[in-house]
Amino acid sequence: MMGGLRRNWSTRSLVKLSFIICLCRCIQSVRAQPGFLSIECCSDANYNDNLTAINWVSDKFWYPNYQDCAILRTGQDHQDYNRKRIFNSDVGNKWCYNLTTHKDQDYLVRATFLSGDQEKNPALSVFNVSIDATVIAQVNSDDSKIEVEGIFRATRDYVNFCLLKVQGAPHISKLELRPLTTDYLDRVPSSALNLIKRVDAGNKGDVRYPVDEYDRIWAADTYADPTVNFISSHNINITSSSYNNISFPPNQVLQTALTHPEKLQFLYDQLDPVYYRYDIILYFLELNESVKARERVFDIYINSINKSQVDIVGSGSSVLVVALNVTANGKLDLTMVKSPNGSKLGPILSAFEIMRAHPLNQETSQEEVGIMMDVKNELLEHNQDNEFLLSWSGDPCLPISWPGLVCQQVNGTSLVTNMNLSFRNLGGPVPHSITKLIHLEELDLRHNNLIGDVSEILASLPNLTSLYFGCNPNLHNGLPDSLNRTDLSTDYGKCTGHASRHSLQKVKIGVVAGVCTLGIIAAGVFLFCRKKRKVVFLSKFDGNEYPVTKNAIYSIPSTEIVRKSISVKAFSLDYIELATQKYKTLIGEGGFGSVYRGTLSDGEEVAVKVRSATSTQGTREFDNELNLLSAIRHENLVPLLGYCSEKDQQILVYPFMSNGSLQDRLYGEASKRKALDWPTRLSIALGSARGLAYLHTFPGRSVIHRDVKSSNILLDQSMNAKVADFGFSKYAPQEGDSTTSLEVRGTAGYLDPEYYSTQHLSAKSDVFSFGVVLLEIVTGREPLNINRPRNEWSLVEWAKPRIRNSRMDEIVDPNIKGGYHAEAMWRVVEVALACIEPYSAYRPCMADIVRELEDALIIENNASEYLKSIDSFGGSHRYSIERPIVILPTPVQTETSPILSQPPPPQPR
Ligand SMILES: *[C@@H]1O[C@H](CO)[C@@H](O)[C@H](O)[C@H]1NC(C)=O
Ligand SMILES: *[C@@H]1O[C@H](CO)[C@@H](O)[C@H](O)[C@H]1NC(C)=O
Ligand SMILES: *[C@@H]1O[C@H](CO)[C@@H](O)[C@H](O)[C@H]1NC(C)=O
Ligand SMILES: *[C@@H]1O[C@H](CO)[C@@H](O)[C@H](O)[C@H]1NC(C)=O
Ligand SMILES: *[C@@H]1O[C@H](CO)[C@@H](O)[C@H](O)[C@H]1NC(C)=O
Ligand SMILES: *[C@@H]1O[C@H](CO)[C@@H](O)[C@H](O)[C@H]1NC(C)=O
Ligand SMILES: *[C@@H]1O[C@H](CO)[C@@H](O)[C@H](O)[C@H]1NC(C)=O
Ligand SMILES: *[C@@H]1O[C@H](CO)[C@@H](O)[C@H](O)[C@H]1NC(C)=O
Repeated sequence: MMGGLRRNWSTRSLVKLSFIICLCRCIQSVRAQPGFLSIECCSDANYNDNLTAINWVSDKFWYPNYQDCAILRTGQDHQDYNRKRIFNSDVGNKWCYNLTTHKDQDYLVRATFLSGDQEKNPALSVFNVSIDATVIAQVNSDDSKIEVEGIFRATRDYVNFCLLKVQGAPHISKLELRPLTTDYLDRVPSSALNLIKRVDAGNKGDVRYPVDEYDRIWAADTYADPTVNFISSHNINITSSSYNNISFPPNQVLQTALTHPEKLQFLYDQLDPVYYRYDIILYFLELNESVKARERVFDIYINSINKSQVDIVGSGSSVLVVALNVTANGKLDLTMVKSPNGSKLGPILSAFEIMRAHPLNQETSQEEVGIMMDVKNELLEHNQDNEFLLSWSGDPCLPISWPGLVCQQVNGTSLVTNMNLSFRNLGGPVPHSITKLIHLEELDLRHNNLIGDVSEILASLPNLTSLYFGCNPNLHNGLPDSLNRTDLSTDYGKCTGHASRHSLQKVKIGVVAGVCTLGIIAAGVFLFCRKKRKVVFLSKFDGNEYPVTKNAIYSIPSTEIVRKSISVKAFSLDYIELATQKYKTLIGEGGFGSVYRGTLSDGEEVAVKVRSATSTQGTREFDNELNLLSAIRHENLVPLLGYCSEKDQQILVYPFMSNGSLQDRLYGEASKRKALDWPTRLSIALGSARGLAYLHTFPGRSVIHRDVKSSNILLDQSMNAKVADFGFSKYAPQEGDSTTSLEVRGTAGYLDPEYYSTQHLSAKSDVFSFGVVLLEIVTGREPLNINRPRNEWSLVEWAKPRIRNSRMDEIVDPNIKGGYHAEAMWRVVEVALACIEPYSAYRPCMADIVRELEDALIIENNASEYLKSIDSFGGSHRYSIERPIVILPTPVQTETSPILSQPPPPQPR
């Protein structure tokens, strides 16, 4: 039966195919639409496809080199083109095609990746595909042919289509750019779309240009269920072109359809298991002219959302278009079912499109891009085939920065703060454009053959703290010996050592001082200084003291580059009751009300917060939290999945955090089963600090959490920290706000004394509470415990004098004794102490804290490596609890180079 049907189908599709070919032949003289750009990578000549009138050009304009081309064995299913360009370089990480566009015009871009002979290319390659700074897909060379299609709106007169190396060498065979005048991006503004499926239901051959004027490919139907009927009608001639602003597919696509007496189901369960918004467009047309209104009525379900009572004829429009958006992770189940209320016929479907929305990543400012292009061009003039320079492609910072650059996100845009051109075999003058990179903090030009001098650079860059230019034989020093910028670390052009790059990379000792450095004043008063200062730490390792300078540069992956989109869903009360099995499992109670565990229809586990009638928080707080949470997204903040505000109920739905709260892990039930180790504590501290830093610097208006505590720091299945509970959050007061309207809120033991006494709320109140959390992390004690002796009730009051007197062994949680690096511990404790300063002005900001904790984590992570180098000198440092650091109040200039193959000799004080 099944075979019969199949054969039937293929005969029909043969007829169909010959029809397409005939149609195409007829329009041989047609010229391709203006604005089409079609690139065949590695082809040696341009080629005009007589069948489609598409003119293919070679990509030698972008990549003139043919050494990286491969010809694939023919005889595979893709016989039309068989070459690929392979981007194989040790240096590069990103390769872009810079394509000309018109600002504000929408485009479809389609790349074809052919892998070819797996025997000859056994190495798997994995790479990301991005449109400017926005990654839209990941490609895995496992499949012999992959097409990635994106839809975007041009923001200027060019777009960079990039391949980002993840593993192995990226490759590409074809790239097509097509202007669109349809409306895809109207429903999902500020996004780039990635096509998941575009199917011409009921058709067995692909339909594309010239039948589709935009050259969208309406893919052949691969629906396998033999009980589904294929129908077609060639009489269809739709003359209108759109419905609700959504343009119709070509007539030829509408002329075929699938239908079933009961239901049609399309299941995509291999999607990226991360929450994305999917835009789904369904095109319906009644092909059976005898069907009347209400005879064919069906319901559409996509995962949990549904649209009921679809009646094509009854709708009065020739083509009925249903556009639905849904947030999903991993799975989309698209089902059309005959309506239970007396419909005679089952569903019919002509075509559909599924697109995933990727929110646009803010690009680097055009000014900064322009300067970096100038630096590149100046260098290229004298270093034509330099592989390092040629690897500088696309946006300098995003989605990943050019080799040798480190960028920082400031005010929503990326700035170059660190440039390392060392060991790159560069000749010619030091590029003048570097003087325009005014945000530059570190510049390393060592081991090249540059000429000129660096005095101009030093004079133009106000924030430069490190300048190294040694080992350039023809580079004049230019710096006065009397240079007295104490904030600058430089080698004065001296060529120290003949270390190779290799050994430079190997040696990793050193302590990084953050931009805002913690200074300790003799009396034990801690102050954060906003200015950069060179600080030399003298560490007692092997009995001798030697300085560890801030020369070693670590790059910490920025966590904010890729923003995931999760749109907040409105759930019905019925759905919530179903998901929680009528509030069966209570997992917690908070100021807001009760928290229940539940499962959404797609299987996702959730925590459902239900406002209790006696809650002290009202509608105001509910809306407050809702508005805030739908705008705020950060990997260290618990995202809001949905809400329900039916029948006076106020319900919030969050993902379930399977590892509970930090509080529970530190001294709750969970801690009795297994104590949290120090590195995990440190990474939780850093994660939650990043989450809070994000809140405090939220674009537009700083957001204060107001109830930072360890029970509000939740842990996901990988023990990543996520700050929860924004119920108390408030927009930070701005000038003009009356501050008295804010009641003091917070939890005993965490409350900022200054806020309590003045009622003046600032981000520094969160900093105080976070300091208490850090103390909990270090000590494993609760912030307030009246079951302890009177002088130990308050954690802050108990810990403070002990820290100041360096009696660390008295306060560190006995569970982690012997399991931490003393210096990392000191960093954390010093930050904690600064955070709990009674006067908020003396407390650091969250960004400073993040930096300090990053340093602490680096120290902890490098501890073993670090120890090895120390152990060879017989010193034993780890776990020694005596105060390991002395910080000199005055900066000392030293000649220490990071190229330390052995510890340097003792330095006289
Ligand atoms: C396409 O048409 C041109 C002339 O119009 C002809 O010279 C060429 O051979 C044709 N190519 C193919 C592949 O048919
Ligand atoms: C590639 O994309 C994945 C998933 O979006 C992301 O986790 C990864 O960081 C990206 N890598 C690069 C090099 O862009
Ligand atoms: C469709 O209808 C339009 C206007 O009614 C007519 O101009 C066109 O030729 C028709 N096309 C076909 C394929 O019948
Ligand atoms: C998503 O679809 C719903 C209807 O299903 C609509 O109300 C809502 O506005 C859509 N959201 C966006 C952002 O288009
Ligand atoms: C892309 O090309 C345009 C000109 O076609 C040029 O102005 C622009 O700087 C290029 N951008 C990048 C990032 O390569
Ligand atoms: C951040 O952006 C705002 C507006 O876009 C601007 O007013 C402000 O000066 C910027 N701040 C910095 C530090 O650049
Ligand atoms: C220099 O650094 C300070 C403090 O970090 C910062 O406020 C300022 O914006 C920076 N200046 C530039 C030009 O980046
Ligand atoms: C150091 O700098 C100050 C001003 O910045 C200047 O007055 C002084 O002469 C400088 N000292 C030396 C030794 O160059």
